[in-house]
Amino acid sequence: MPKVSDVPHLGKAIKDAIERGAPDVDLNDLPNLTDMSADKLTENVLAINSGCANPRQKFVLEALVRHMHAFVKEVGLTPEEWMTGLEFLTKTGQMCSDIRQEFILLSDVFGVSALVDTLNHPKPEGATEATVLGPFWVEDARVVENGEAIAGEDKGEPMLVKGRILDTEGKPIPNCLIETWETDEDGYYDTQYSANGYVQDCRGRLYSDKDGNYAFRCVMPVPYPIPNDGPVGKLLRSMNRHVFRPAHLHMMFEADGFEKLVTALYFKGDIFLSSDAVFGVKSSLVEDPKKVTDAAEARKAGFKKDEFFLCERDFVLITTEQAKDELEKAKAKAKAEVKA
Ligand SMILES: [Fe+2]
Repeated sequence: MPKVSDVPHLGKAIKDAIERGAPDVDLNDLPNLTDMSADKLTENVLAINSGCANPRQKFVLEALVRHMHAFVKEVGLTPEEWMTGLEFLTKTGQMCSDIRQEFILLSDVFGVSALVDTLNHPKPEGATEATVLGPFWVEDARVVENGEAIAGEDKGEPMLVKGRILDTEGKPIPNCLIETWETDEDGYYDTQYSANGYVQDCRGRLYSDKDGNYAFRCVMPVPYPIPNDGPVGKLLRSMNRHVFRPAHLHMMFEADGFEKLVTALYFKGDIFLSSDAVFGVKSSLVEDPKKVTDAAEARKAGFKKDEFFLCERDFVLITTEQAKDELEKAKAKAKAEVKA
């Protein structure tokens, strides 16, 4: 038998579907799926999926099906549990809007976002590690001069962040775009104060100078809760998990010839440093800013207050070639570990 549309006496519904784009498959190409026992079901699904033309999509979906079926078998999933899961996913989707992405949050709290991020941005020794972008980056943060403030001084305890942008050989990277954003002292990002337009604060962009130096004034960020009034928050409560992130200063770097680096600085002593709800903390990113109490130093840095935190930190970027090499190596290693 040839294609579906060649079969005589087809119902109108099938003809309509093919007309509207449903694949007009060749019946001879279809696998024979007649044994639907638990042992054969996985094989059957893989067989009918095997015609997928995109090799990467085929590979990913094959693994997904195998893992989903293995999961159902491993936990002995009941129909009630299966339905509970589907209802949860439905509510997760219904919670999503232009300004709320509950699925990303779900991925975050199970460590999937952090895992995808880490696996895709492996770094050689000495390079600054990456971490999750989070939902509070905006495209059009204002540009400030190197050395100027990205936050109003009334937004929290003043902090001066300074250092150099370097390559892995220690050479400075000039004209590197640095983007940074953080909470104010109440634990809110500027975008959280109003859904319809907001006043930019505690965020900005600047460029490193010709010797790779950068500096900006900001405030000491504080811990904050992830959005927890939806299905993901409810799930976390049911697992007796908290919903907090340790204080952090988001930072992103872009320079010609280098891999874009999305990272953040965390701060020693934070009560949530070892239990970040979204698994973003890496020990190499934890800083311990020192308190400067010299009023003259404060004036020199541009602060009106007499005391400030000083966070001195260099960032080491890798070239796009280094990034490619590291990724190849990391992928081969991850594959070998899964097989072992
Ligand atoms: Fe954040």
